Amino acid sequence: MKIMVIQGPNLNMLGLREQNIYGPMRLEQIHEQMRGVAQQNDVEIEFFQSNLEGEIVDKIQECLGDVDGIIINPAAYTHTSIAIRDAISAVSIPTIEVHISNIYAREEFRQKSLIAPVCGGHIAGFGPFGYHLAMVAMLQILNEIKAMKEMHQSQPGQQPE
Ligand code: DQA
Repeated sequence: MKIMVIQGPNLNMLGLREQNIYGPMRLEQIHEQMRGVAQQNDVEIEFFQSNLEGEIVDKIQECLGDVDGIIINPAAYTHTSIAIRDAISAVSIPTIEVHISNIYAREEFRQKSLIAPVCGGHIAGFGPFGYHLAMVAMLQILNEIKAMKEMHQSQPGQQPE
């Protein structure tokens, strides 16, 4: 099983940018912790960060047939990108949206996510710990899908409840 972690614009500046909002942790440190959880659970994990909307769309499309789950923080594109929303919708891969800050407690323009409706779930406001929560949730989702598939294979013709 493979999880793709996609980080949007300016998240490469974590640890430097607005520490009062995003805290002191660098992106590489967050990814290190996620890699640890993936290893413990025998799951492959890949990380991608881009400041460009089209590159994020390309990466989501590349996930088709290769990736079982996507964890994405679309950053500022959360509030503007129909293209990223459509890409997530098109690939139909279980996706979890993460935000470090509580976007609902911030400026009005941040309080709407165009991405949330096409995601299985959305985590916001827990700081970098949100990525850990997303990993736990994604592992649970992938295990449930695996169990359903196994049940289907052992009992062909039976509809999963
Ligand atoms: C963010 C929230 C966005 O509004 C903002 O543009 C970001 C980071 C977060 O993780 O809290 O860059 O996605």
